[in-house]
Amino acid sequence: MEVKTIGIIGSGAMGNGIAQVSAVAGYDVVLQDIYSQALDKAKAAIEKSLGKMVSKGKMAEADMNAAIGRITFTTEVEVACKDADILVECVFESLELKQKLFKDFERLCKPEAILGSNTSALPITEIASVTKKGDKVIGIHFMNPVPLMKGVEVIRGQLTSDDTMETTLEYVKKIGKEPAVAVDYAGFIVSRLLDVLMNEAVKLVEEGNKPEDIDKAMQLCAGHPMGPCKLLDLVGAEIAMHGMETMERDFGPKYKPHPMLKKRVLAGLLGMKTGKGFYEY
Ligand code: CAA
Repeated sequence: MEVKTIGIIGSGAMGNGIAQVSAVAGYDVVLQDIYSQALDKAKAAIEKSLGKMVSKGKMAEADMNAAIGRITFTTEVEVACKDADILVECVFESLELKQKLFKDFERLCKPEAILGSNTSALPITEIASVTKKGDKVIGIHFMNPVPLMKGVEVIRGQLTSDDTMETTLEYVKKIGKEPAVAVDYAGFIVSRLLDVLMNEAVKLVEEGNKPEDIDKAMQLCAGHPMGPCKLLDLVGAEIAMHGMETMERDFGPKYKPHPMLKKRVLAGLLGMKTGKGFYEY
């Protein structure tokens, strides 16, 4: 199947990052969000990120403008679905919401369209289970910040077809990323390991360690590019909490989110997106 158009549902940090890298690679992109203010923010984030690349001489200004010109912004799910060859759903981590949307995609997308989810932890087979298109459903799990991170986890559901898998792997490579294939259990590879690390870092803070010391230790003693407290601020405390809850549901109490992680989420200390997490932004 020739892929020309990428539809993206949800224009938060992940959705707008995926729109950016897809448009830069030459795809037509339709980025949808129910809130027009969210779309304005998404456009500004894309312009800022590409602007940085232009100012560093990594991209020509004309290429930036052409990439931005390839993105259509819309509040209508129908518009994002209509011409999409690959759809990437990037909404809030709610199984109920994702299943509702996938039922809509089944109705609104072309029969041959690939229906991807950027979920960080929910099993793809479970999302696909409400549709009759399990062969077309696949996990395409991008990493934050999307323009910088080289890897994308690709998750094959129980019914995902070889064609869907192959076309998705080609798309991931065409946008300059390296696919890492993961088995379809809650948390896949990346969240299964990183959410546990970040949850454990919350426990360490509760035990009296300073976030700065935890991050310094993991950067300088273990070679991590970013310490787990800063990482939690980057991905968002609520994302890690939902990941832990999904893994706890499927694998048991070993994955129980720390009560302080839940409390931080309730208090709105989500990290960079709310301006305050372990650090201030
Ligand atoms: N667009 C364009 N350029 C950007 C940018 C963006 N969005 N964000 C940062 N940059 C640029 C910066 O301006 C900087 O440029 P210079 O070197 O010219 O100054 C450069 O990229 C590097 O940025 P920083 O100096 O701020 O930071 P860094 O060197 O530490 O690199 C990083 C940043 C690549 C994010 C690195 O810290 C890293 O790899 N961190 C780990 C991130 C990670 O693990 N992500 C996955 C999380 S899990 C997930 O996302 C999935 C999930 O489901 C939860």
